[in-house]
Amino acid sequence: MMILGIESSCDETAIALLQEQDGVFEVKKNLLTSQVAIHALYGGVVPEVAAREHVDILFPMLKASGISPDGEGIDVIAVTAGPGLVPALRVGVELAKVLAWLWHKPLVAVNHLEGHIYSVWGGEKKPMFPALCLLVSGGHTELILMKDHGQYELIGMTRDDAAGEAFDKVAKLLELPYPGGPEISKAAEKGNPTAVDFPRPMLNSGDFDFSFSGLKTAVRNEVALQQHSVEDIAASFQEAVVDTLVTKTMKAMAYTGAQSLILSGGVSANKTLRSRLESTLQKHIPEVGFFAPDLTLTGDNAVMIALAGAYRFHAGETVDPLTLVANPNQRLA
Ligand code: KG4
Ligand code: ZN
Repeated sequence: MMILGIESSCDETAIALLQEQDGVFEVKKNLLTSQVAIHALYGGVVPEVAAREHVDILFPMLKASGISPDGEGIDVIAVTAGPGLVPALRVGVELAKVLAWLWHKPLVAVNHLEGHIYSVWGGEKKPMFPALCLLVSGGHTELILMKDHGQYELIGMTRDDAAGEAFDKVAKLLELPYPGGPEISKAAEKGNPTAVDFPRPMLNSGDFDFSFSGLKTAVRNEVALQQHSVEDIAASFQEAVVDTLVTKTMKAMAYTGAQSLILSGGVSANKTLRSRLESTLQKHIPEVGFFAPDLTLTGDNAVMIALAGAYRFHAGETVDPLTLVANPNQRLA
């Protein structure tokens, strides 16, 4: 089975061709264009600009993917239907609808967050259920208990900023370019993570929620004092975020008794977070498998959408190409 994946929910335009045979996946095409350089001029993603870029990029990208104009060889079309920016989402959704309708192919609507979770499903070793997912991206910070394919329970979430958003905002305070996550982690490599004792918000709140806006304020105050280098502040901030994420995730592991731990989303590219979470898990619950996406699949991409789409298709969850509507607030659980 060949799945065409389409992703346009934010500022990456992506098309993937994924082949599946008896649960074994092979990525045939993984095309991705990031609009980061354009949005960096504005300090963040501008929805209308993102949509126009998607329009300009998607059609040439479809052609470049080598797909035959009559859709020959494609068995399923999977598209991100939400959550995300409405104008951006609509470009991919409308393209997918037209293709599905013209080619008479089944269409599957994928939740973008579900896509991030399925970014770890391409490998040979698959997570066991129940799996706990720490989903950390620019728009989301959630702990999700995945009981089976397509069955999600929200265990905890951020009450204000998402982890990636915190990285981006702190980068701005430190006058580092957008997106801030990679910049902060690069600066942090040369800094002392114990230089500033930043707060670990909600660590003992008794639930699995997060809050990062207070931490951001603490960084702003520290920057104003001009006592520490950018590298030290970056390292100390990253340490506070990683500490909070790892501690709460481990608490949620104990509470849920999950059989696997999945780390995904754009922030899963953070090396300190990846290695700290894996080593902490290995130390305390060595029998539980740790899964994090290949570094080419941590950010937004269409391979993860095709992966999630494959499972949804097998579950018989196709949608009508004439009535599918992008949903910016689509929820997982
Ligand atoms: O998943 P993603 O590509 O887009 C959304 O769905 O939001 O995540 C983007 C976020 C940005 O906030 C970016 O700063 C963050 O992921 N990010 C990182 C790293 N690489 C990307 N955050 C921390 N460390 C990184 N190495
Ligand atoms: Zn994303």
